[in-house]
Amino acid sequence: MKATLSLALLGAATSVWAHDLSSVQRVTNLPGLSNKFIVEVAAASDIPSKRALGTPHEVLYRSLRERKIGFSVHKEYDAPGIFIGAAMTVTDSQDVANILKTEGVVAIRPIHTYGRPSPIASKTCTPGDVGLPDGQSTHVTTGVSKLHAVGITGKGVKIGILDTGIDYTHPFLGAGFGPGFKVAGGYDLVGDAYTGANNPVPDSDPLDQCAGHGTHVAGIIGVNPGNPFNLTGVAYEASIYAYRIFGCAGSVTDDVIVDGLLMGVKAGMDILTMSLGGSDGWTEGTGSVVSSRIAATGKVVTIAAGNEGASGSWFTSSPGNGIDAISVASSDNTVIPLQAFTVQGATHDPIVYYSTFPFALNGSTPLYATSNDTTVVDDACSPLPASTPDLSKFVVLVRRGTCAFTAKLANIAAFGATTALIYDNGNGFGGISVGTFQATLIQAEDGVFLAEQLAAGVPVAVTFPQTGGSVNFPAPTGGLVSTFTTYGPTNDFYFKPAITAPGGNILSTLPLPLGTWGLESGTSMATPFMAGSAALLLAVKGKSASVGKTARTLFESTAKPISTTLTDGDPFQTVTQQGAGLVQVYDAVFATTILSPAELILNDTTHFAGPQKFTVKNTGKQVKTYTLSHVPAGTAVTVDPSTGFAALGPVPVSTDYVTVTFNKAKFTLFPGQTQQVVAKITPPKGVDATTFPVYSGFIYATSGTESVHATYLGLAASLKDKQVIDNTDVVFGVALPVVLDTSGNPQDAPVNYTFVGADAPTVLWRQAFGSPALRLDLVSPDIKLTGTLNARASHDSPVFSFSHQHKGGSFAQVAILGSLLEFDFIGRNDETDLLDNTVVLTNTFANGTVIPNGSYKVLLRALKVTGDATNEADWESWLSPIIGVAA
Ligand SMILES: *[C@@H]1O[C@H](CO)[C@@H](O)[C@H](O)[C@H]1NC(C)=O
Ligand SMILES: *[C@@H]1O[C@H](CO)[C@@H](O)[C@H](O)[C@H]1NC(C)=O
Ligand SMILES: *[C@@H]1O[C@H](CO)[C@@H](O)[C@H](O)[C@H]1NC(C)=O
Ligand SMILES: *[C@@H]1O[C@H](CO)[C@@H](O)[C@H](O)[C@H]1NC(C)=O
Ligand SMILES: *[C@@H]1O[C@H](CO)[C@@H](O)[C@H](O)[C@H]1NC(C)=O
Ligand SMILES: *[C@@H]1O[C@H](CO)[C@@H](O)[C@H](O)[C@H]1NC(C)=O
Ligand SMILES: *[C@@H]1O[C@H](CO)[C@@H](O)[C@H](O)[C@H]1NC(C)=O
Repeated sequence: MKATLSLALLGAATSVWAHDLSSVQRVTNLPGLSNKFIVEVAAASDIPSKRALGTPHEVLYRSLRERKIGFSVHKEYDAPGIFIGAAMTVTDSQDVANILKTEGVVAIRPIHTYGRPSPIASKTCTPGDVGLPDGQSTHVTTGVSKLHAVGITGKGVKIGILDTGIDYTHPFLGAGFGPGFKVAGGYDLVGDAYTGANNPVPDSDPLDQCAGHGTHVAGIIGVNPGNPFNLTGVAYEASIYAYRIFGCAGSVTDDVIVDGLLMGVKAGMDILTMSLGGSDGWTEGTGSVVSSRIAATGKVVTIAAGNEGASGSWFTSSPGNGIDAISVASSDNTVIPLQAFTVQGATHDPIVYYSTFPFALNGSTPLYATSNDTTVVDDACSPLPASTPDLSKFVVLVRRGTCAFTAKLANIAAFGATTALIYDNGNGFGGISVGTFQATLIQAEDGVFLAEQLAAGVPVAVTFPQTGGSVNFPAPTGGLVSTFTTYGPTNDFYFKPAITAPGGNILSTLPLPLGTWGLESGTSMATPFMAGSAALLLAVKGKSASVGKTARTLFESTAKPISTTLTDGDPFQTVTQQGAGLVQVYDAVFATTILSPAELILNDTTHFAGPQKFTVKNTGKQVKTYTLSHVPAGTAVTVDPSTGFAALGPVPVSTDYVTVTFNKAKFTLFPGQTQQVVAKITPPKGVDATTFPVYSGFIYATSGTESVHATYLGLAASLKDKQVIDNTDVVFGVALPVVLDTSGNPQDAPVNYTFVGADAPTVLWRQAFGSPALRLDLVSPDIKLTGTLNARASHDSPVFSFSHQHKGGSFAQVAILGSLLEFDFIGRNDETDLLDNTVVLTNTFANGTVIPNGSYKVLLRALKVTGDATNEADWESWLSPIIGVAA
């Protein structure tokens, strides 16, 4: 388990970071250290010398045996053109290097574990609440309604959903499974009991009646019309295939994801969709790589961007990091389904209260206010006066402020109250945490009205209608990017997320045993919306590989950029959270101008890729004159220079914009004609590079009412300047990295360890940023080396040298006694959960050889992003105090 910090402390002063060292669990918590890998091999035809020797798998196993490498195979993959290889456990992780040297081996990658993005909010809904959320509001804002109106509903398109399975017995998901049904096929790759940490037990039936996530996802694509909520799926005539890769609880590993993806490809899916992921910031994981390759063959692959918006930039999720996949951000629905109560004794319209369900209270109930003062700041924060009546017969009205809601509710509960309305004091109208109490927020002006009536002696009473009380409340954040959406870009500066679809406050289907209908929020909900949108596109343009390959460009170039706020004139939200904007499906399907590429990636200052070229093609039947223009988005201020950590979300944006000039800003195209344009983009001047500002925006080609755009993204700093290892004391009150001794205290002086039981040192460090390579090596204790980070004792000046580099053999002219750990493409740590990296050392090298008794130091090295592994100056390094092995 990893240490966590309450979310309530977010954004407060630095001191709240300070986290107790004793809470650090002294266990090794890096992923991929269980010796499980996915080995990729070349097709037999690509290994001429081995062609005669059998399948690529047989060749691989024979070579491994010849090299005396111990291994056991869990799963073979054989999808020529996409992925050939095997998931295996290797007896000795040191053999990874040997496996890579084996002829025909293309890559070896550790197996990672992924959760499904945890839903941000989740509620079941009862059909009594007819007309409740406006599912269709999401269809109106994206043009899906316009396509449905002309009969385009995704017929003939196959969508594979990799998720928790589907409750296909749902009456509005076709009530059946197999050919002829909406859920036309699929497979359960794992079984109910699978958790991601045990062995899958596959069977042929992907029914989900225990988790629900996949059923909600499926409904967004496919719920049939005619239901009590008047909902329709985005592509409700498409065929759905359920690939169940999660059990009832827990996570999934890469090897199962790849298996599911390849199964879907083999079964002829046109679209594959995955509402899952884990933040690692790199495009290199097997799940990402395979997703990207499938997309490159002309299938559409949609994957959730992740729900880690609170953690700030550079935190993208895999497998959504797959370069050619469509990573999907979420926007909030324009309405929230809420309830309203009626007022008796005074004249007032029904008052909205923040609850999806009606309060369980029949009939008209008198109201009691704990204060007649409508400006009281600490209402009911202290025990109520003894003169307070028995409140069990009342609904209690309380003003928000000063103490926790639960503290107020406890004070009124002391007088028997069971139901309370808390009126806002200006902090905002939203969901609140009230424990088991029946209580929620109402808006300030409604509370003031009620309190004033009571103060004037008017006997006001309220009634909570048990049916028919639902209202579509205009969401204060409606249409904006959901704050929970994970921010990009990837560490290697790829454009993630790609596009936004509605994912906040979405009503859809649930398994019958879990409530039948439910409201959920997350990029998990936005992702099937994109999959359904792609089905509409393919239904019109055909299911060819060429259409599939252009889908992302069509969606991105026609999307609608989203602002940071609902106030006119405020900057557009950074592309690092919204991608190209909110999907406009009708425009993508019927655009008569194709702008390509739709992503212009300018990279960092060291690898600046400007000027950028793109083409504008008139695919319409009329002559068009185009004008080019530039609309900037807010520049994301991604790093807090005082700590070197990513700035927490919502990531601040500035108005430091680029300037853009075109070689041709206006031109005329006949039908079928194409114009190439060169855009010269000059990064913003005068920005603080230590904040790693990511600038972004949109370049429009406009002709009459038609407007398409390219979206650009660049960094006004050099990635190689970004410190990757946290060397501050901000988090634990001691400078990191640090070795913790057997008692969990920072070790400064030499300590001997027996490596018996818990008597072993733990190396604790945090990644302030992702790193392409991390190494822990054992070195001699009298080494003359000053690490670049926090030396704990004085040493000679640094002796970095580039000439003596020989693979793993020495560093800074210092001999390395042996490798303890190597890890490629490590992600950064999460500044909201304060997840740290810990490795408990054993008395063996990585290859299993016992370390002889003696004194040593541990050298920790991390390569900077875009750094050259053969250049010592591109590594950060840290040297431990003396560790004695006495085992
Ligand atoms: C149901 O939705 C359709 C469009 O999808 C709309 O025309 C109709 O008015 C809605 N009916 C109700 C009762 O909300
Ligand atoms: C309200 O009245 C209905 C019908 O009499 C009853 O079924 C329900 O249990 C009552 N609810 C409460 C909270 O008393
Ligand atoms: C508020 O004013 C009303 C009317 O004067 C009075 O009955 C009630 O006791 C007052 N409430 C409190 C909490 O003082
Ligand atoms: C940005 O530049 C680095 C260094 O050349 C490169 O590795 C990376 O792939 C580039 N990113 C993109 C999206 O082209
Ligand atoms: C560690 O063990 C060695 C060898 O027995 C001994 O010389 C040294 O003093 C010990 N160091 C500490 C700190 O106990
Ligand atoms: C394991 O690594 C150590 C340190 O590099 C080395 O001395 C030893 O020979 C290696 N053992 C084997 C079996 O390769
Ligand atoms: C290593 O040191 C421990 C503790 O002093 C001792 O028990 C053990 O025998 C030593 N091992 C060898 C191989 O000398």
